[in-house]
Amino acid sequence: MKTTNQKRVFTGVKPSGSPHIGNYLGAMKPIIDLQKDHQTIIFIADLHSLTTVRNAQELRQNTIDVALDFLALGLDPEKTIFFRQSDISEHCELAWIFSCITPFGLMERAHAWKDALSTGKKDPTVGLFTYPVLMAADILLYQADLVPVGKDQKQHVEIARDIAEKFNSTFGETFKLPMESTPDDIATIIGTDGEHKMSKSYNNTIQIFADEATLKKQIMGIKTDSTPIEAPKDPDKDAVFKLYSYLSSPTEIAALRERYTAGGLGYGEAKQILLEKHLEYFGPARQKRFELAKDLGYLEDILKSGAIKAKKIASETMETVRKAVGLVL
Ligand code: ADP
Ligand code: TRP
Repeated sequence: MKTTNQKRVFTGVKPSGSPHIGNYLGAMKPIIDLQKDHQTIIFIADLHSLTTVRNAQELRQNTIDVALDFLALGLDPEKTIFFRQSDISEHCELAWIFSCITPFGLMERAHAWKDALSTGKKDPTVGLFTYPVLMAADILLYQADLVPVGKDQKQHVEIARDIAEKFNSTFGETFKLPMESTPDDIATIIGTDGEHKMSKSYNNTIQIFADEATLKKQIMGIKTDSTPIEAPKDPDKDAVFKLYSYLSSPTEIAALRERYTAGGLGYGEAKQILLEKHLEYFGPARQKRFELAKDLGYLEDILKSGAIKAKKIASETMETVRKAVGLVL
């Protein structure tokens, strides 16, 4: 049962390609699990995507895809406010006001920005630089208590808190200070290279909704060591086992662990076991997504009704903000 004094949980997801197991375990599942006994708000960060996507058709398609992904994976629009960032103009308005009180140095210290510079990103944009300001506006507009994010987004939530404090001390108590929440045991899922975090940028992902042939290719491509089939293997040093354990019950994990340590289990077979587990775990979601994709009108209705609910909260906050900064005569 939901009550009004429940914590408000809020998160956003950039529509930038097919979700992978890292996105699911690090960001999507934690918030979907919370919707039964929290006030949950999830939005599609299409404005944030503009920092990288330069093709209208691609952005539209990615937006549809991410909405389908969330609904298929268990987001319930009756329980969660689900909307598109660009439907609520208050995000940009608040971002501008925040950018006027945010120290330049705070943005310069943001990891994502520093990474972009250190990897030699060509022509970095102002939008990429002020990305955390827009993200602060997203979060603070909805007076969120908790923001579930993967480890890499933690700093952005801390920045949102800094901006809220700065605003409150300058213009009077207006914003609640949000806290990030990252799932401890699975904060960073490692990708198929066994080295970097699973990420679209590293091209080391195992997707959720790809066709079976693609999934097979991704799973068979997981980097393993050269221990021969008959030799015992250390499951704790193996990427295949680790991934299997995220999707399996304690009994299943213990059984596979035993096979690893006994010897006789080759990595090829271990990967086949992981593939079957993937198809079993995500099978119902894959079927649901297929059904939902047949009726995009229904999808639009869901986002429209989510936007009406979101607008109500966002416009209330903006009214207070406009008064606080002197934009109301
Ligand atoms: P990618 O790195 O593949 O581009 P995004 O940056 O779009 O993924 O991340 C979307 C959400 O999923 C973020 O909250 C992010 O922290 C989370 N996430 C992404 N990759 C991982 C991972 N490997 N482990 C845990 N969470 C992740
Ligand atoms: N920056 C986040 C990402 O790259 C997406 C995002 C935008 C977000 N605004 C947010 C996440 C507000 C949580 C809260 O994944």
